[in-house]
Amino acid sequence: MPKKAAPKKAETVEKVKMEPLQSPRGMHDVLPEQHAYFTVIKKVVRHRARQAGFRRITTPVLEDKSLFVRGIGEGTDIVDKEMYNVVTQSGTQLVMRPEGTAGVCRAYIQNGMKQMPKPVELYYIESFFRHDRPQFGRERQLNQFGFEVLGEQDPAIDAQLIFLANNIFKDLKIGHRLRLEINTIGDAEDRRKYEDALRDFYTGKERSLPAELRHLIEKNPLRLLDQKDEDAQILAGLAPKFEQFISPEAREYHEKVLELLQALDVEFVSNPKLVRGLDYYNRTVFEFVDDDLGLSLGGGGRYDGLIELLGGEPTPAFGFAGGMDRSVLAMKREKLLAPEKDTVDVFVAQLGWEPKKIAIKMLAELRDRGVHAMGAIGKSSMKAQLEKADRFDALYALILGEVEVREGKAIIRDMHAGKQEIVPIEKAVEKVIKKLDPALIDRYDPSEDLEKDERVDPADELKIAD
Ligand code: HAM
Repeated sequence: MPKKAAPKKAETVEKVKMEPLQSPRGMHDVLPEQHAYFTVIKKVVRHRARQAGFRRITTPVLEDKSLFVRGIGEGTDIVDKEMYNVVTQSGTQLVMRPEGTAGVCRAYIQNGMKQMPKPVELYYIESFFRHDRPQFGRERQLNQFGFEVLGEQDPAIDAQLIFLANNIFKDLKIGHRLRLEINTIGDAEDRRKYEDALRDFYTGKERSLPAELRHLIEKNPLRLLDQKDEDAQILAGLAPKFEQFISPEAREYHEKVLELLQALDVEFVSNPKLVRGLDYYNRTVFEFVDDDLGLSLGGGGRYDGLIELLGGEPTPAFGFAGGMDRSVLAMKREKLLAPEKDTVDVFVAQLGWEPKKIAIKMLAELRDRGVHAMGAIGKSSMKAQLEKADRFDALYALILGEVEVREGKAIIRDMHAGKQEIVPIEKAVEKVIKKLDPALIDRYDPSEDLEKDERVDPADELKIAD
């Protein structure tokens, strides 16, 4: 029998260096520099939304799978390939929302919003999730700003929202880069007739299509028209045209939308091939295209049948969503710099325990009075603390050494000029604030926003919790 090796007295545990974890493919951190751009976009969106009477809505990240299967449609890439499925512990099938419109319509029905004065105008700024192949400008977690106008069918609704979207891109100083493409795809009945005509056309020509597209002939023949594949494009060029199937009413409606856009001085081009990748649309569809980036920065259209399809009463609607991530790409191509307002303006440096107690109170006062301030941390030397202040690009350092504190003094150091001045401790905060550009003072008084009001009923929350 082989002898057992004697156990080692003390096992030396080798520390294994862990591989750092990565975010999931196609999902990116929105770092502070990127947030500076997002902040501008959100400001512009909120401003334009408020001007036009929109109110904000947030729907859940997870929804019932059937909402999107019914709403966006089988045969669309989003539903067939791109949804993130979530199965709960009890086996319920949910999906992470790939877009915002279907969720807003579900919320409209569920919350009885049909009682509200029409049109009901809602907007959102949210993340969405699509499991597509990541590439430049295509994220798996993407950020959109979106607008939905529910309850009216009027060319003026379409024109007003397209105008609003156009204004947002102008405000972001990227409007001149974009081409607004617009089309009408008629009503549901027109579409059915056209789809039948397409099926007739493609039947017998299956072999000329790539194998992975053939199922679309039955499922969603419209999708065959905007494929990248060359053979599919050649066939699409020969296929019957949508224009021939648009009803006179839908055509007249479209003419009116275009006329109103002209009245609003919105430049556009008609693109009869534009059908968009979601099935809920009818009549007006539009997209803002950035040729330089090779991306669409926003798109939308009318969806008069969706709310009924989701179990609500027939309710015409129109909407638009813009891509935030792609807008930032365009803003950067334009060399636009978003302001970094999250600066540190005053750094409080201290040595010793007693000075630290004073420093922490000074910091609190500075912050309360609207100064972006940090410090009063660590035990490092004054030199090291001032180096830190420099690395944070602070404008001033408030220095509390043990000697100064004993003498009731503090030092204010102008970090850029390298000059300093000794001041009485109790005047230090006041003095440093005086030195700062008033534009840097960042005060917010929440009591201006929150007031007691008898109309607030705590039971409302209970109803929501039910
Ligand atoms: P969508 O065209 O799928 O429409 O998306 C709108 C915009 O979101 C796109 O134009 C693009 O800028 C951005 N976007 C979409 N997918 C990605 C991605 N993978 N990565 C980065 N950005 C992306 C909708 O979602 C409809 N719900 C719009 C709508 C609202 N229609 C009516 N109401």
